[in-house]
Amino acid sequence: MTQHVLVVDFGAQYAQLIARRVREAHVYSEIVQSTISADEVRAKAPAAIILSGGPKSVYEVPAPSLDPAIYELGIPVLGICYGAQLMAQQLGGTVANTGIGEYGRTTLTRKGRSVLMDEWPASVTCWMSHGDAIAMAPDGFEVTGSSPEGPVAVMEDVARRLHAVQFHPEVVHTERGQDLLANFLHHVAEIPPTWTNTSIIEDQVAAIRDQVGTEKVLCALSGGVDSAVAAALVTKAVGKQLTCVFVDTGLMRKDEGEQIEETFTRQFGVELIHVKAQDRFFDALAGVTDPEEKRKIIGGLFIREFETVARELGKGGDGPRFLVQGTLYPDVIESGSGHAANIKSHHNVGGLPEDLSFDLVEPLRNLFKDEVRHVGEELGLPAEIVWRQPFPGPGLGVRIVGEVTRERAEILRNADYVVVDEIKKAGLYRELWQSFAVLPAVRTVGVMGDGRTYAYPIIIRAVTSDDAMTADWARLPYDVIEKIANRLIREVDGVNRVALDVTSKPPGTIEWE
Ligand code: XMP
Repeated sequence: MTQHVLVVDFGAQYAQLIARRVREAHVYSEIVQSTISADEVRAKAPAAIILSGGPKSVYEVPAPSLDPAIYELGIPVLGICYGAQLMAQQLGGTVANTGIGEYGRTTLTRKGRSVLMDEWPASVTCWMSHGDAIAMAPDGFEVTGSSPEGPVAVMEDVARRLHAVQFHPEVVHTERGQDLLANFLHHVAEIPPTWTNTSIIEDQVAAIRDQVGTEKVLCALSGGVDSAVAAALVTKAVGKQLTCVFVDTGLMRKDEGEQIEETFTRQFGVELIHVKAQDRFFDALAGVTDPEEKRKIIGGLFIREFETVARELGKGGDGPRFLVQGTLYPDVIESGSGHAANIKSHHNVGGLPEDLSFDLVEPLRNLFKDEVRHVGEELGLPAEIVWRQPFPGPGLGVRIVGEVTRERAEILRNADYVVVDEIKKAGLYRELWQSFAVLPAVRTVGVMGDGRTYAYPIIIRAVTSDDAMTADWARLPYDVIEKIANRLIREVDGVNRVALDVTSKPPGTIEWE
């Protein structure tokens, strides 16, 4: 195992951001719960520990604490915000509940020498978010930075390699925040910056070979980035032992099937089974308008199609033993920390049932989404796949309000293509979480040329978000909306009106069904 860092989670989203910043400094990091004991830490043998911020005050009861024996392990520790206050309190300093907090940009003034802030100017802007403040540093610590309301904004015990900062180095508003983290990692903890896309790929390829041996492996490609990168990694590891399955439900985005085929069959030389199941899906969906029922039908049929292929491959007893899954690190953390209740069960539609008798290969289990994309690029996957926005398992089915028919799916697919094409041309595709078209179940009157039309409106849905739990509607520039609207009417048969969805989440969901 390469040298790694443990990020102790004291709540909220701080730990994930810190873990990502550490990885941006090319050091592998892992998030652990604050209940971890010194013995457990020793067993994991990290090269450094970072204590995250958190929403609580150290004076709240109960407030999350830390096994104090962890400070005695001789492992360098960096405390951030709540983590800094906890370190001060546990090691004999004092934390004051002043009632005057600091929120937002503040000036940090340096004092003396500090390896964390080597060669920094005398004062820098940093981002604060705290109610309490460290009033007195513990014995052995030197105060190397202060802010207007934080006399101990940075404190360091160089001999014991314990450091603490009241501000948030992980947020972009802190000037030189990343530099501070890098200094802690590379100079205090002396961890070399060796965790790169190349090393991730090498490690995973070795792990997959180890796990799979000479057995066969199966992977369901969805068109999304996670399954594509997972499949590309497995191909690199065990080549011909992998068979990919792509079930075309008729509810995919334009050219999605062709692109998968082009990439995996021609570029990667993977054995790809392209199941053209469109007819079976449209038949099963005929006359169905209830959203939940549609989801159930699509999810159930998807599983049946996949199982048919798996059974076929298994005939003669020489079938695949392993199944590739594109599980990501945030899924792993969430299921470990009891926040799983946030995830709607319906989001598993399009996934595979747990009782399929395969052993799982999950090569992306330790990665965040942005890391998956970079690994994908390094593996040579095309940008269109690697940078694709998230797409729901039931596909266009949850964006067609009312009955899903072949014709209506075709209208929406063409409309979706126009929306995405213009968003890409405007350079907005990567900064939006999702941008797509929705087809409602009503038709409206219009006039085109000399004639009256009676056709469907298309609704433009574009949102910004970090994690899809909440989202804001995107303020698209008027000229982009205008271009989309003109093209939708001109190019997409069956459309005569365009509307814009200005609902955030909550109260709306991102998808319409
Ligand atoms: P909502 O509509 O609930 O969606 O705000 C949140 C995010 O989840 C995606 N989504 C799904 N993903 N299977 C998936 O894999 C599904 O059944 C599903 N339903 C919604 C949606 O696109 C958004 O990113």
